[in-house]
Amino acid sequence: MLRLTSCILILLFSLPLNAAQQAAVAMPDSYSAEAAAKVLKDGGNAVDAAVTAGFVLAVTLPEAGNIGGGGFMLVYKDGKADFLDYREKAPLKAHRDMYLDKQGKVMTEKPLYGILASGVPGSVMGMWQAHQKYGSRPWKALLAPAIQLAEEGFVPHEKLVRYVERYIERVKQDRHGRNFDQYFSGMVTDQPFKQPELAATLKRIAETGPDDFYKGETARLLAGFMQKHGGLISLQDLAQYTAEWRQPLSEGWQGYQVLSAPPPSSGGLVLLQMLKMQSVLQDHFAGLEHNSARYVHLLAELAKRGFADRAEYMGDPDFYQVPTDKLLADDYIGRRAMEVNVEQISETAKIQPGLKESEDTTHYSIIDKWGNAVSTTTTINLSFGSGVVVEGAGFLLNDEMDDFSAKAGVPNYFGAVGSEANEIVPQKRMLSSMTPTILLKNGIVTMVTGSPGGTTIINSVFQSILNRHLYQMTAQQTVDAPRVHHQLLPKDTLRHHPDLNEQTRKALEKMGYTLDGRRFGDLQVISRDEHGQLQAASESSGRGRSLVF
Ligand code: GLY
Repeated sequence: MLRLTSCILILLFSLPLNAAQQAAVAMPDSYSAEAAAKVLKDGGNAVDAAVTAGFVLAVTLPEAGNIGGGGFMLVYKDGKADFLDYREKAPLKAHRDMYLDKQGKVMTEKPLYGILASGVPGSVMGMWQAHQKYGSRPWKALLAPAIQLAEEGFVPHEKLVRYVERYIERVKQDRHGRNFDQYFSGMVTDQPFKQPELAATLKRIAETGPDDFYKGETARLLAGFMQKHGGLISLQDLAQYTAEWRQPLSEGWQGYQVLSAPPPSSGGLVLLQMLKMQSVLQDHFAGLEHNSARYVHLLAELAKRGFADRAEYMGDPDFYQVPTDKLLADDYIGRRAMEVNVEQISETAKIQPGLKESEDTTHYSIIDKWGNAVSTTTTINLSFGSGVVVEGAGFLLNDEMDDFSAKAGVPNYFGAVGSEANEIVPQKRMLSSMTPTILLKNGIVTMVTGSPGGTTIINSVFQSILNRHLYQMTAQQTVDAPRVHHQLLPKDTLRHHPDLNEQTRKALEKMGYTLDGRRFGDLQVISRDEHGQLQAASESSGRGRSLVF
């Protein structure tokens, strides 16, 4: 039985590490894994490999990989941490009440499907800026694998073909302006799937970098398409798009330095709050069996408090002053942790934001032979984004506008509620839960982790860290152990992987939890074992591939 023995790991990681020259990738599909590994083997660094992976996924993982969306890249290079925010922005013509009908009710389909669902895409700018600052290989060479896969075709995994078929059925029954089927109905197993328009777009990006996408031919195709169909994104929106370098969040936890995503993600903040509360309550965690009812209940109590703060205080820091320091302050965390009810479910209505006296997507993890690491989460929000492909340019647009709070207190697709902090304002970035994270021990990367899954991302990443560092799991055990998710609302509802053990499920139901057994997440983890050797793992339920070489 796995038990808490973190002190053993702490001792082991203070030993000299014998792992230089090893590199690893954990990727959501085999095409990205092989392309990123080749970049590393050819002498490229972790950021070069991340750029290649980002563009390959735009071709081979259409449900989440993208050039029509955005993301976050956490970089640890030459001993320094950095964070690139290339999240989408609300178009200039967007406004706070744009998804409300005349009665003030949220039109829930509008921010999710069709032409009005998209924010201004940031991925191409993100890849470019990451490359400008840290890349070592020519930009054009890094895009070559993606261009080849789009032009000559890739043989889709059966899981992807089924996924596309199911989505096309839904689109046919309920179109909402989606043209997805016109582009993807030709996808079958065992046949190369070619995307000529996307190949041409990628070639232009390879030639001119972001100029094509934000000011050139692709910008004209995108803005023209929007105009034709009544969308909002204009040439001005594209020309004004910027990605931002931000200071990553960094906190100590159990002898590790945890680096994670700052706002406009809620992910890093809620993750670090939960880790810090876990430390305060470590006596209650000590000796708990992994995924026992008591353990799961404690995780839910921590998540409840993190998600209450998320709803109230978190949004785009360029528009709203997020009280990051206060939310992570030791005395605040101590007070919140002491309010945890170890025995029973805390009453939902009583869990207020504490300061007043806050699915799809994809993730990849990389470590290069110099020990640099990249943790990237990228998204077009739901699977296949808005379901809208830009005609002539061949790429899917995001439906990230649903990550804004369309109306205070009204849940979005992920059941997350928000307030003024995350209301729609032109050029503002919508709050995210993406949580690309890196753990260090004495300056050496010990874990790179992240997952897709909307609000569940934060709990997936949190539990991956606990699995590895409190329960000493291997990378594969870390990603495959059943996980749970709680987010304050809906009240007392615990989502869990279907394979969570029956005894725990029964005990949780007896405590008063409502269980929801829908699987979530697709962890991509690299971790260092007690001998300093790298392990990499992709969740077995997905179609990911991990390599150590
Ligand atoms: N679209 C999912 C997220 O950013 O949290």
